[in-house]
Amino acid sequence: MVLEGFHAVKHAVRFGAELLGLWTADADELAALSARLAPDVVLSPTVVDLSALAAVVPRAQVVALARRPRQPDPDGILALPGPEPVVLLEAPRHLGNLGAVVRVAAAAGAAGVITTGTQDPWHADALRGSAGLHFALPVARSRVVRTGDRPLIALDPEGTVVGPGVIPPRALLAFGTERDGLTDELLAVADARVALPMRPGVSSLNLATAVSAVLYLGAAR
Ligand SMILES: C[S@@+](CC[C@H](N)C(=O)[O-])C[C@H]1O[C@@H](n2cnc3c(N)ncnc32)[C@H](O)[C@@H]1O
Repeated sequence: MVLEGFHAVKHAVRFGAELLGLWTADADELAALSARLAPDVVLSPTVVDLSALAAVVPRAQVVALARRPRQPDPDGILALPGPEPVVLLEAPRHLGNLGAVVRVAAAAGAAGVITTGTQDPWHADALRGSAGLHFALPVARSRVVRTGDRPLIALDPEGTVVGPGVIPPRALLAFGTERDGLTDELLAVADARVALPMRPGVSSLNLATAVSAVLYLGAAR
């Protein structure tokens, strides 16, 4: 996996990533950043002119390659024990959004993230969006929507406004694609269809913002 930027490298290493290489254009700046922001993380960079590495010059001054970790497949994520929810993204389009969802799922202590659709949730742009936090919880793509033993809770602006107890333990929290929302097929099999309240005239929240609100609402239950 390609990791770009100090925070992505820091989080990846902190959560167990095996780095295959780490390159920087400025060893002094990297050492200063490490000392200030992540003294717990030991980095051994190779200094290189990053513009010589690729036709497209990376924006970040730190770039690493990490081995993709072995993780549970989607059914294994669903089967994880404990009350923590799993986040299901139906065919997300924007990799930055996808990464932001992984980041908040890791921060809020979700059990994992499952995506459907064509986007690779481990794409470099998604890893940049998650600041490397893909390494902190299982993230996998599934061909089909399966629920395991988890209650399927559809997050939908047209749903019933979320209230206390609406999000049960072990929920599989489903969020729709950025433009069109959840599919009719998923809504038809959901155990509940829940909305975050919004001021009249506002049609929806950004995908990652909605995931964040629901996860922290659930955590505060
Ligand atoms: C940008 S929204 C999609 C908007 C789409 N036009 C719709 O009506 O669902 C992406 C996803 O975020 C979640 N979402 C956004 N706002 C929400 C709200 N107020 N309540 C519940 N879920 C919301 C839903 O899962 C939605 O499918």
